[in-house]
Amino acid sequence: MKRQSFLFLVILLLSPLKVAHADDGYSLWLGYDRITDRAYLKECSRQFANVMITGESPVLRTAHDEFIAGLEAMTGMRATEVPAPEGKGTIIAGTFSSSPLLASLLSDVQPGTTGEEGYIIRSIRQGNRNITVVASEGEKGVLYGIFHLLRIIETESPLDDLAINEKPATKLRLLNHWDNLDGTVERGYAGSSIWNWHLLPDYIHPRYKDYARANASIGINGTVITNVNANALVLTRQYLVKVAALADVMRPYGIKVYLTARFSAPGEIGGLTTSDPLDPDVISWWKEKAAEIYSLIPDFGGFLVKANSEGQPGPQNYGRSHADGANMLAGAVAPYGGVIMWRAFVYDNNVPVDRAKQAYNEFVPLDGTFLDNVLVQVKNGPVDFQPREPFHPLFGAMPETPLMPEFQITQEYLGCATHLVYLAPLFSETLKSDTYASGRGSELSEVIDGSLHGHSLTGMAGVANTGTERNWTGHLFGQANWYAFGRLAWNPVLSPEQIASEWIRMTITHDPVIEEGISRMMLTSRETAVNYMTPLGLHHIMAEGHHWGPGPWVDRGRPDWTSVYYHRADTNGIGFDRTRNGSGAVGQYFPPLDSIFNDPRSCPENLLLWFHHMPWHHAMKSGRTLWDEMCLKYQEGVNSADGYLAYWETLNGIIDDEQFEHVQQLLRIQVQEARWWKDACLLYFQTFSRMPFPEGVEQPQHNLEYFRGLKFHFVPGI
Ligand code: GCU
Repeated sequence: MKRQSFLFLVILLLSPLKVAHADDGYSLWLGYDRITDRAYLKECSRQFANVMITGESPVLRTAHDEFIAGLEAMTGMRATEVPAPEGKGTIIAGTFSSSPLLASLLSDVQPGTTGEEGYIIRSIRQGNRNITVVASEGEKGVLYGIFHLLRIIETESPLDDLAINEKPATKLRLLNHWDNLDGTVERGYAGSSIWNWHLLPDYIHPRYKDYARANASIGINGTVITNVNANALVLTRQYLVKVAALADVMRPYGIKVYLTARFSAPGEIGGLTTSDPLDPDVISWWKEKAAEIYSLIPDFGGFLVKANSEGQPGPQNYGRSHADGANMLAGAVAPYGGVIMWRAFVYDNNVPVDRAKQAYNEFVPLDGTFLDNVLVQVKNGPVDFQPREPFHPLFGAMPETPLMPEFQITQEYLGCATHLVYLAPLFSETLKSDTYASGRGSELSEVIDGSLHGHSLTGMAGVANTGTERNWTGHLFGQANWYAFGRLAWNPVLSPEQIASEWIRMTITHDPVIEEGISRMMLTSRETAVNYMTPLGLHHIMAEGHHWGPGPWVDRGRPDWTSVYYHRADTNGIGFDRTRNGSGAVGQYFPPLDSIFNDPRSCPENLLLWFHHMPWHHAMKSGRTLWDEMCLKYQEGVNSADGYLAYWETLNGIIDDEQFEHVQQLLRIQVQEARWWKDACLLYFQTFSRMPFPEGVEQPQHNLEYFRGLKFHFVPGI
């Protein structure tokens, strides 16, 4: 044997081992590793040896292909296509209308039960034969049902007595990409934009399809592919054909494409002298533009608009209201079934009002004036995606208008893609908040699923954390945040525990002990980040511009972009007084929340400094002073981060090597940065409190001047 071929043989023999221990993260939660449990494999073959997917359409074809490929990857078994149930087990999937057999097997199911996107998965026994049905009124429901079944198999959950009835709580479940046409991603920490505008429409990167699959597998049905700080160029023919090519890839996965609309586009690319929404030429321009878009993309979703916010153009430039602007665009896309998502993230530094109050002040008077195909898209909190904020007071306060929450999956204020911060607890905390809009028990999830105020147009948006990094999200655990967003948009009351368990089992391990350890780390990680960054209701004290690392001393530039505007520390105390004696922001919440927040004794301590300016000596519930409590919270955050690293290191050799090393390195950085946050913030705030650090708090590693003097260049994401 030649030496070369001998070497080749050795490599070949060793390679399966290597592959099994080198997960680069590309396949996300759809890794479909081969199942090793023999009993489970046997059960799969008893249930799914034969497959019958009825009906012909691109989406049903996707469902078919996904099932066959997924099952084969996990079990090694290729299901046989059969025209009628046979053998020990058959899976039958399709829409009720495409299959009389399905309709008769599920004759007890009332019309409307699943809708277009919901589904039923049921185990039926016919003599010795197992039948598993996956059925929906719509083809997308079939696809989602198939992905659910694959998830059951991937997590090795019981297969024999399935009785699942799912229907999404929201209609539009969308990722928002803050991706620019030049390939950069605003607040993106995972490489460049996944859209290769230069090569589109002729080169279709395989990543586009994998992106669509991943989204469909968690029920995401739309993607806004461009930045809210919009570029009008995307509305030119040159770009629209590229958008159409992307839409063609997304369509078989049930995903619609949306664009951001730059409000001044008629003036910028249309040759008009104005972009006034009430101007007849402007109205016609948008109508023609919509007609052009729909001729290329018949199922185009609609527009997301950031207007009159942070320097973006909008209707107010022409003396018109947000409703005038939204309705004009809504009129253009309405004939085609399109929607407008109009963002409520507006604030103006020339208005001498607490920034947290401005969106409510501007939008509540407009309630009831928006056309039926407009949703107002509201960030989860009133300032800006902070580690912790109270829920946005607009939720519940605009009963006549569909409101869709916007969460940030990318970690702009949460350590970029370097920190392990599982965001389901943050999303869920918001969704579970009681708005009291119709009395006690008016949960925010009921505002957004339309049940509280009777809306059928509903939605949820998440600012994506994807990029060209091989593992899509930079940090392996960032994938869990994408996953969690999709699962919560489908079902806002799912628990973060369940979502974490699904994700861990699909991504890292089936070992119950390790699963529990990783889950514990994930579930506490958001509170840990709050502790070492912004405990007790502190907010927006990150470094200037890039928002990476601490910057509590930032005091120059636009006031509502500084840190001192938000923490207001002085020798008397710290915190933003938003009580009735302060900015009055508490008054934007329904009773009794307004009073609960207004009184420091009833205000939850984790929001104390959001609503109150409190003396350093204030006695906290623990009996400690505010200063001591704050110091110990920062320290607790550092200790927990240390604990994550120590725990993760026990997994060496037990989990996939590449996953292990990747997360280990990032956790080391997180531990350093947690200390950096603690040291910098405590030294800075100590200049006001003039009190010593309590026992248990580590001495800072450097002095305040050192931290203030740190300068960073080219931090990603701007
Ligand atoms: C934040 C973020 C910006 C973004 C803005 C928005 O301010 O820092 O990059 O454009 O939110 O949501 O519009």
